[in-house]
Amino acid sequence: MPFLTYSTILTRTNQRRFSLDKFVIRGGKRLSGSVQVSGAKNASLALMPATILAPGRYALSNTPVLRDVATMSHLLESIGCVTKHADHTLMIDSSKVTTFEAPYEHVKKMRASVYVLGPLLGRYGQARVSLPGGCAWGPRPVNLHIEGLRRLGADVELEAGYIVAKAKRLKGARILFDVSSVGATGTVLMAAVLAKGTTVIENAAMEPEITTLAEFLIAMGAKIHGIGSSTIEIEGVDQLHPADVTTIPDRIEAGTFLVAAALAGTRGKTVRVERCDPRHLGAVMNKLEDAGARLTRGKDFVELEPPEAIKPVNVTTAVYSGFPTDMQAQWMALMSLASGTSIITDTIYFDRFTHVPELNRLGANITIKENVATVVGRKELTGAKVMSTDLRASASLILAGLAATGVTEVLRVYHIDRGYERIEAKLQGLGADIERVSGEEF
Ligand code: UD1
Repeated sequence: MPFLTYSTILTRTNQRRFSLDKFVIRGGKRLSGSVQVSGAKNASLALMPATILAPGRYALSNTPVLRDVATMSHLLESIGCVTKHADHTLMIDSSKVTTFEAPYEHVKKMRASVYVLGPLLGRYGQARVSLPGGCAWGPRPVNLHIEGLRRLGADVELEAGYIVAKAKRLKGARILFDVSSVGATGTVLMAAVLAKGTTVIENAAMEPEITTLAEFLIAMGAKIHGIGSSTIEIEGVDQLHPADVTTIPDRIEAGTFLVAAALAGTRGKTVRVERCDPRHLGAVMNKLEDAGARLTRGKDFVELEPPEAIKPVNVTTAVYSGFPTDMQAQWMALMSLASGTSIITDTIYFDRFTHVPELNRLGANITIKENVATVVGRKELTGAKVMSTDLRASASLILAGLAATGVTEVLRVYHIDRGYERIEAKLQGLGADIERVSGEEF
């Protein structure tokens, strides 16, 4: 693939974004074979803004080609960085950061744009970042990011929909988060590495994407202890230097393929999910075994043989290393065909259930009360036209469509392009009958 600037990629993906592309799935094809997992979207979205912290050239290998990565690259370009993405290596030159603003146009497309706040403030002493709005499934506050930066001595005001933060030099502090937040931990981590003195984050996020960010910062010269635990200690340094990094595999993409295999695999055969990190998939793999699937764990692969009958298994989402909220919708698709009733509770996002009415249109029997879904397993799902509403909801509808009888059309698949690289090609490689059909502009 030739080097593409992100303006080019974004223009292309934007064309797709505003189109009515849909997936047409002829269900019932049994999956088998192998599939390779891409780099983790949520790791890339944290690693990329960290390059603001030290001017220079970086190579981020195993960076997935996704719409969210394009959006972050475009944001970095808008503040003066130069980016090029080829063969899954993202080159970033952050030598000339000229503005310190993340405008609404970027943040409204992708909430993770807020990640530039910490490094801009830590490196340049100022940042103006649009407040993100809600999500399709409800409010997504950034109060913890702001409180964390204030604890580090920043002057943070909200002005006309923007977070305006200033500090001569941040000062180390003790920060105890009420809620474990991936984003707020990332923001404070990136701000504190250049602060004067020591920062301690308690109730820090332990997700692998935060661990990989901390390791990248250490490679850039930061001093961080307690990585991967809920207490992270950061000794501020005067300056950092560029470094290269390989992005970890996407555990949610891997989990999605494993659930697809459990739902639509071939009895007596396996689906092998390659280039993943099974250490990051513990909760999902345990639940799949509870559901009756047979798993073989390798160093960088997992093989799954589907169950005779899918057993009903309750899940409650939790922070890492619990069952991820980003797998809740896919799990619900699996449970829709279980041989009994299961309860699925989301404790991270109480309103993240926009996939439920769409799964019900495919014949599922799911009811919601507050943040608890009761799924009465059905003998079969039947194809229908369904509308995807967000990234993981889209994934659940595709999985349900693979297992349904007849034809399922999943509309508005631009959501899936945010976080799954060429999902239709990867599923076709496993034997699925799925095609992307271009639609009209809207
Ligand atoms: C990240 C992931 C997202 C995943 C989520 C939870 C990225 C780019 N996205 O999102 O895919 O679903 O973690 O694993 O990495 N909260 C507050 N105040 C804040 C921040 C968060 O109350 O300032 C709450 C949220 O409403 C939520 C909980 O904290 O209930 C966890 O959210 P958080 O971990 O911050 O999610 P994100 O970092 O936005």
